[in-house]
Amino acid sequence: MYRGAMLPAKLCNPATCRAALTLLPMLAQTMGTTTTPVAAAGIDPCNRGHLIKVKQTMLRRLLVLTVATILIGPAVASPPPDPVQCSSGGNDGGCTVSSAYGVFPDRSTCHAAAVAYPSTEGELVRAVARAVASGTKMKVTTRYSHSIPQLACPGSGGGEGLAISTRRLDRVVSVDAARGRMAVESGLTLRDLVAEAARAGLALPYAPYWWGLTVGGMLGTGAHGSSLWGNGSAVHEYVVGMRIVTPAPAEEGYAKVRVLAEGDPVLDAAKVSLGVLGVISQVTLQLQPLFKRSVTFDERDDGDLEEQLAKFGYQHEFADIAWYPGHRRAVYRIDDRLPLSAPGDGVLDFIGFRATPTLGIQANRLAEDLLERAGNGTGKCVASRLTHAALSVAGYGLMRRSGGVFTGYPVVGPQHRMQASGGCVAGPEDALLTACPWDPRVRASSFFHQTTFSLPLARAAAFVADVRRLRDLNPRALCGVELYDGILMRYVKASTAHLGKPPSAGSGGGDMVDFDMTYYRSRDPRRARLFEDVMEEIEQMGIFKYGGLPHWGKNRNLAFAGAAAKYPGMAEFLRVKDAYDPDGLFSSDWSDVVLGVGGGSPTRDAPGCALEGMCVCSRDEHCAPEQGYVCRPGKVYKEARVCTKVSS
Ligand SMILES: *[C@@H]1O[C@H](CO)[C@@H](O)[C@H](O)[C@H]1NC(C)=O
Ligand SMILES: *[C@@H]1O[C@H](CO)[C@@H](O)[C@H](O)[C@H]1NC(C)=O
Repeated sequence: MYRGAMLPAKLCNPATCRAALTLLPMLAQTMGTTTTPVAAAGIDPCNRGHLIKVKQTMLRRLLVLTVATILIGPAVASPPPDPVQCSSGGNDGGCTVSSAYGVFPDRSTCHAAAVAYPSTEGELVRAVARAVASGTKMKVTTRYSHSIPQLACPGSGGGEGLAISTRRLDRVVSVDAARGRMAVESGLTLRDLVAEAARAGLALPYAPYWWGLTVGGMLGTGAHGSSLWGNGSAVHEYVVGMRIVTPAPAEEGYAKVRVLAEGDPVLDAAKVSLGVLGVISQVTLQLQPLFKRSVTFDERDDGDLEEQLAKFGYQHEFADIAWYPGHRRAVYRIDDRLPLSAPGDGVLDFIGFRATPTLGIQANRLAEDLLERAGNGTGKCVASRLTHAALSVAGYGLMRRSGGVFTGYPVVGPQHRMQASGGCVAGPEDALLTACPWDPRVRASSFFHQTTFSLPLARAAAFVADVRRLRDLNPRALCGVELYDGILMRYVKASTAHLGKPPSAGSGGGDMVDFDMTYYRSRDPRRARLFEDVMEEIEQMGIFKYGGLPHWGKNRNLAFAGAAAKYPGMAEFLRVKDAYDPDGLFSSDWSDVVLGVGGGSPTRDAPGCALEGMCVCSRDEHCAPEQGYVCRPGKVYKEARVCTKVSS
């Protein structure tokens, strides 16, 4: 998610454009799924608005800064920090656990007593056994911990729990090239997984687009790419075996390894588990022979988006669509499988995931802040048009060969170099000269909300039509989401996994679309966003009117209201959870809430709660009445209650 940079058109001649883009990043993402954001901020080179001198001067300075970053040149990146940080010396709940973005949806700080870094399954078993013997709550954390909600926070987050990091459990255990199977430790990143598989002539067919996720993390949250082909785009559909370390009675040594083989019904619980069954030690994946892909991004008017959405996923194996509703445009990813013998050595190194100069990250954020403060929706549209144009000119990071420039579609390359990317996690420490755009160590780094849910294909068109109606009332209100790569639509199929996407009754087939939106979040929790009401209405439409299934690893708290009841397999899942972890040591306050255990609610009633997605407003004080934002019905979905700016 994230942000971009502003590129005045005149800067963007082919010679400078790629360099500029590299540096001016945009984007960001999340958990693996992509979102590409692009944000930008900027100055209108056409200069047709009224001039507000002070702001314009500021914006100009930011632009200069942004451009200056172009001259610095990237190449390396400071890898993201470990999400678990412990104060040396102090023992009083001395660790904090955060997400890759540094802040959870409710802005809580998660404390843990300690962190363990097992590097073998034996060490993992001992770490779990010690915690079980003392009744200590545990949670797995990963190398980057990309989940937006606090799934990685042990217990109440009050400082008594243990974080178990899989950072050092990152090896390939075995490869059976003939059967196409690979067993790996759960801390292996997607980046290493696809590279190692390719070395054996194998490919993971579908995956999230951001490669900083781990195998265990992808399974824990049901992460997916985009496809309606085969068994669909979720990584967990390709799991044929797992080893999980769970609590055990004292006479068994307090911890044990559970081995789940192909066909074991418990796999339907373990494949998507939110980490509440224990620690995944190893996973065996069914891979495919390595193949190539041909990718073209085709931008069109959005006039027939509903019809296209319904059929595009059947036409191309790796299809997705990014919708830019403010500009009435949609970018179709025409992406198909080719044999390995097809010519082409292309790469997709998505620009928004590359190492970004810190100055560029900051200039982008400050520019977005300025446009927010000025209430300048037109300015956001100008910024999104510029950054989108620049991204498009650069082919979004597609290249005929590594280190090259974009020279036209289609780009053909091997699966492992086209399916995912994340330049900013690679490379040596450069003292934060460059970073991932969302790196919390960077002052004024990207800061955003994310709303992501899946709908059956049969209901997706009606949802899109509703959003279109809302857009038509005020197109500028939807330029903000374009700064973060628009509304990304990825295809996904229903699953037999209890916490995977359930097939919905009567809508046939189980084919679904996942809608992924990233948008501005203020550092000040009490400050309303520009066009606050519009994204709130879209969120409530998706989750409540259309019954969307929230992505477990994304979203604001509100999206999880009533989520447990949307899963027919929930009771069966909870039976496995009780068998594996009867004392709930791997359960946390947050996992109880989302699984519907114990009666807690993900929302809370407090002043300003609707601004942060902590509630649906029912009173004006849930919004920001002092800034003119009060609780009103939605404009298209009348049952929605959204914080709307009333003119004073
Ligand atoms: C899909 O899943 C079924 C059963 O789970 C399996 O038999 C089949 O091989 C899988 N297909 C692919 C393409 O992996
Ligand atoms: C809004 O932003 C645009 C682009 O930066 C600028 O040209 C315009 O003057 C601004 N309008 C207002 C009212 O601030």
